[in-house]
Amino acid sequence: MVIKPMLAYVRTLLTEVLNEGDVAVDATVGNGHDTLFLAQLVGESGRVYGFDIQAEALASARARLEEAGVAERAAFFLESHAEMREFVPAGVKAVTFNLGYLPGGDLSVVTTEASTVPALQAALDLLVPGGILSVMLYAGHDEGKVESEAVLDWAHHLHKKEAHVLMYRFWNQKNSPPILLAIEKRGRL
Ligand SMILES: C[S@@+](CC[C@H](N)C(=O)[O-])C[C@H]1O[C@@H](n2cnc3c(N)ncnc32)[C@H](O)[C@@H]1O
Repeated sequence: MVIKPMLAYVRTLLTEVLNEGDVAVDATVGNGHDTLFLAQLVGESGRVYGFDIQAEALASARARLEEAGVAERAAFFLESHAEMREFVPAGVKAVTFNLGYLPGGDLSVVTTEASTVPALQAALDLLVPGGILSVMLYAGHDEGKVESEAVLDWAHHLHKKEAHVLMYRFWNQKNSPPILLAIEKRGRL
């Protein structure tokens, strides 16, 4: 297929923007698939800051990075991504959010509008111009619907001089298919 599936498209963007020595953030670590991908892109001299509110998720992600021999490239925080300003220095090249619940984990623990929207603004503030913020939204469950609407509204109102905002979705899929927002930071207003 020439049109890339969503995850492949996100990874294309991240691959294009991240280089050896860069700083990246995984705002929803989960089982660590995205953290590992980021750690491989930033290389030995780079750094990935990872956030999750479930210790179980961070343990699973840490094991995944250890197995790949790249664990020293990541710093994990058992904290809400809404607090990322306290832990991450400015100058970030890419931030990924994969919203919803931990696959195979506690389905009652989901990302919510109340912390996701402030976290997205913090992420955008930490990015360098040209940096990428990717957000995978799932509106197929109740909280996800509310959260998706809030995130889309936040993104829609970003000034075009502050960021390019791309929405990527398969329009003819049924049952609330995921939506990807790819946000590229521009210069300050
Ligand atoms: C869809 S999963 C992420 C999947 C992950 N990218 C992977 O590769 O497995 C969403 C994760 O967000 C976490 N989460 C929920 N609320 C959060 C918050 N306020 N801050 C950080 N992580 C949160 C959940 O615990 C869950 O592990």
